[in-house]
Amino acid sequence: MHAAHAEQLAPTALVTGASSGIGRAAALELASRGYRLVLLGRQRASLQAVAKEAKQGKTATIAVTDLADPAAVTATAEAIVRDHLPVSVLLNAAGDGVCLPFLEQDVATQRRFMQVHYFAASALIRALLPDMLRRRRGHVINIASIATKFGPWGHSNYVAAKSAMVALTESLACDYAESGVAFSYVNPGIVKTSFFDHPSYRGLSRTVKRRAIKPETVARRIGSLLDRPRLELCVPTHYRVITWIKAFSPTWAWRLVSATSRPKGGDDGVKIDAGASDHKGDRFGVPGTRG
Ligand SMILES: NC(=O)c1ccc[n+]([C@@H]2O[C@H](COP(=O)([O-])OP(=O)(O)OC[C@H]3O[C@@H](n4cnc5c(N)ncnc54)[C@H](OP(=O)(O)O)[C@@H]3O)[C@@H](O)[C@H]2O)c1
Repeated sequence: MHAAHAEQLAPTALVTGASSGIGRAAALELASRGYRLVLLGRQRASLQAVAKEAKQGKTATIAVTDLADPAAVTATAEAIVRDHLPVSVLLNAAGDGVCLPFLEQDVATQRRFMQVHYFAASALIRALLPDMLRRRRGHVINIASIATKFGPWGHSNYVAAKSAMVALTESLACDYAESGVAFSYVNPGIVKTSFFDHPSYRGLSRTVKRRAIKPETVARRIGSLLDRPRLELCVPTHYRVITWIKAFSPTWAWRLVSATSRPKGGDDGVKIDAGASDHKGDRFGVPGTRG
């Protein structure tokens, strides 16, 4: 079948981090909008469950890939280009985080964050963008974080990697303006997902937990991005206020973020029990784990 005709029947969306949380919810949203899914993550069974939930148990492609492994990313990108073009939507949602001061995160963690959040996402864009440009059609959506607006406590390497992703998206939007391909980054606030299962988030403040929104809310807003593409989306929208405060006074912004994100100790602070973790790696066994 001619590629354009195939796309007209069912455009394809590649979703990374599709096995849970925001990626899973977004994959279901895309399926409800008629997209055929290519679901990427490390856990085959969870990806298959999402495919089934999307009523694509027989048609969705499951791409089991550890994005922390550059060779695996290259192999998956090549396979997708070989077997699944045209891809109309690339949603880079995979990733994890930790909540520890900079010196308590080892270099392997720092590198892994950069690899998963930035280099792997870039490699998939590099693989799929040429075909999108040829067809003058496509949408690259990168899940960044509201934390990029001003790094909260314990998120130095995470924010650095997500900020690289934001900078890349902004530059791509300039490089390929008027190309027919849209580029967006999404800054979710606090979303109730397994992201916070990592032991370093064990003592997350009750205030922060109360603020958490559902991944389906983010997914619906991602759906609205497809209808009306724009460069940046913050969910919830009012979190953008930090940008204005920062423009007015970076010192005020820093005071506000450091006061609200810093553990205060007691019941409401980040309580860390290194002995409770039997993971290997840095203090919390960060490499390759999500908690
Ligand atoms: N939750 C929040 O409050 C929040 C806020 C702002 C931004 N974000 C961002 O939103 C994205 C989704 O996170 P989430 O909150 O939905 O957390 P989540 O439920 O833990 O989902 C993370 C997803 O990323 C995948 N993943 C993680 N490391 C991977 C790797 N090395 N290779 C392949 N896949 C990997 C996981 O799949 P497997 O386990 O199958 O590998 C899972 O599907 C992340 O990029 C996160 O940084 C989250």
